[in-house]
Amino acid sequence: MNALKRVIKILRSYLWLAVGATISLLLLTGANALTPQLFRRGIDEGIAQKNLDVVLATGAMMVGVAIARGLFNFGQSYWAESVSQGVAYTLRAQVFRKIETLSFSYHDQAQTSQLLTRITSDIEQIRTFVGTSLLQVVSAIATLTTIATILLIMNWQLALISLTAIPLAGVLLYRFFGQNRPLFAQVQQKLGDLNEVLRENLLGVRVVKAFAREPVELQRYTQMNSSLVSVYLKTLTAIRNTFPFIFLLSNLITITVIGYGGAQVIDNTFTLGELVAFNAYLLFIVQPVLLIGFAAPVIAQAAASAERVYEIIDAPIEIINRPNAASFNRCGGRITFENVSFRYPGATEPALENVSFETKPHELIAILGMTGSGKSTVVNLLQRFYDVSEGAIRIDGRDVRDFELESLRSHIGIVFQETTLFSGTIQENIAYAKPNSSLAEVIAVAKTAHIHEFVEGLPAGYDTVVGERGVGLSGGQKQRIAIARTLLTDYKILILDDSTSAVDAQTAAQIQSDLDRIMRERTCNAFVIAQRISTIQSADRILLIHEGKLAAQGTHQELMRTSVLYGAILESQMKQPALAAVS
Ligand SMILES: Nc1ncnc2c1ncn2[C@@H]1O[C@H](COP(=O)(O)OP(=O)(O)OP(=O)(O)O)[C@@H](O)[C@H]1O
Ligand SMILES: [Mg+2]
Repeated sequence: MNALKRVIKILRSYLWLAVGATISLLLLTGANALTPQLFRRGIDEGIAQKNLDVVLATGAMMVGVAIARGLFNFGQSYWAESVSQGVAYTLRAQVFRKIETLSFSYHDQAQTSQLLTRITSDIEQIRTFVGTSLLQVVSAIATLTTIATILLIMNWQLALISLTAIPLAGVLLYRFFGQNRPLFAQVQQKLGDLNEVLRENLLGVRVVKAFAREPVELQRYTQMNSSLVSVYLKTLTAIRNTFPFIFLLSNLITITVIGYGGAQVIDNTFTLGELVAFNAYLLFIVQPVLLIGFAAPVIAQAAASAERVYEIIDAPIEIINRPNAASFNRCGGRITFENVSFRYPGATEPALENVSFETKPHELIAILGMTGSGKSTVVNLLQRFYDVSEGAIRIDGRDVRDFELESLRSHIGIVFQETTLFSGTIQENIAYAKPNSSLAEVIAVAKTAHIHEFVEGLPAGYDTVVGERGVGLSGGQKQRIAIARTLLTDYKILILDDSTSAVDAQTAAQIQSDLDRIMRERTCNAFVIAQRISTIQSADRILLIHEGKLAAQGTHQELMRTSVLYGAILESQMKQPALAAVS
């Protein structure tokens, strides 16, 4: 419920729309209350007195009130809908902004589909609550108080009889929702499950087809689809079993009112017009109770959804700027790892243990090691995708945690191990970090990444649209576009994480030699992560990582002489027995 209170607080930003909706609602309640009074006047002062003028006048007034009711009704729902759109807009923006600022560790653990559900379906639940249920409840309360007051003034005995409908209907509804709450929750749950299967199949369509699992997936979806429908039908049955009782109740009350009130009319203590008006008011009494009943499950669902949404909005951001963070705008080229240990959140084993090294200006450093040894982790820590668990990382003597995140990251260019492109043209993808770059600049980096010739050969050239996640390109082409994209940034430190793994050895070697030159000229430090020794032989220094520890460091020649492990890796890659003898 706290989460719902926070949702309602958002209404303050849409105060005038909310005020408009509330005023329309009150006017509508007033117009509704007025109508039976016009009946009464038409009958008592018109028909009973055989005065046609009064009959016609009240008739005309009824038409006028009906038109006004239509207008107020429109105003109420239009403004309430506008408010609800505003609230949904605000929440979506808040969640998205948060998702953009959350650290890697959050995204490691959160499921993408969960985040998607929260930003779409949960916010939609909240929107329905604000646009419909909130209004229904307020309107029901306003109507009940107004009508009850009028009835008590008109005829307190009859009023007391009629008002018994409210607690009785309340009890029936309470029982109905008490018994069927699990059913309503199930509908949401099943809907979620169904969407989950859909999402998985959309994202993994290639895997499904490759393993020829279409029939199984189809069956899985069909099964969930029919179980959703059967739960829906169960809720309908439950409604069918309860609501006739409520209508029966309202009919019983009508009979009582007409019987008791009729006797009063015959006794001349109550007029016929008053009785008709009274009966008309009864309709307005049962309706709000039903409305509150219908609103109840929506409110319960919205409360649950609001909690899920605020869970994201309130999630702690682990990596943030320190109070006096400095801007990173100069790099001397001395990167120091001081006894760095790191454990991924939730992991039992440390990914890095006691890693220490220091780079010299303009050095090209290679990080080598077997899969899972901790190479990517080293560079993840440098740009503060995660913070070290122990020890410190310094650039020119200053702890990386003392730099402003944005300036630090914008000057460290990284080509990730896994390539992610966005839907858009090739030019847009390369210019992702610098959207204002000229085509000439884009072409220059594309040439360095050895992708220019390929792009030029395409019918639409740099305007070729690549699909979601780069569909339509080969793995190696994607990697080279990703390299070009990074080369266009304002990097001072450059990191290539196994970024030519999908490119053939010859092209990879060409790219690497061009990059080596650029790295030595333009960067203060550069890191190349590789599994193949052949691509990093010319590095100024090789860091050999083994099971999270720095096993050895030195040039290729030095490591060949001093490290057994390096020799073993080299041997396995080159199949040169002579070199094995050296180590
Ligand atoms: N986000 C993560 N959460 C938990 N553990 C992780 C995460 N990323 C990596 N690890 C673990 O940390 C260890 C080091 O991973 P890392 O990605 O640094 O290896 P790597 O040397 O880059 O391997 P590869 O050559 O296969 O890319 C591995 O055991 C891995 O399972
Ligand atoms: Mg890696």
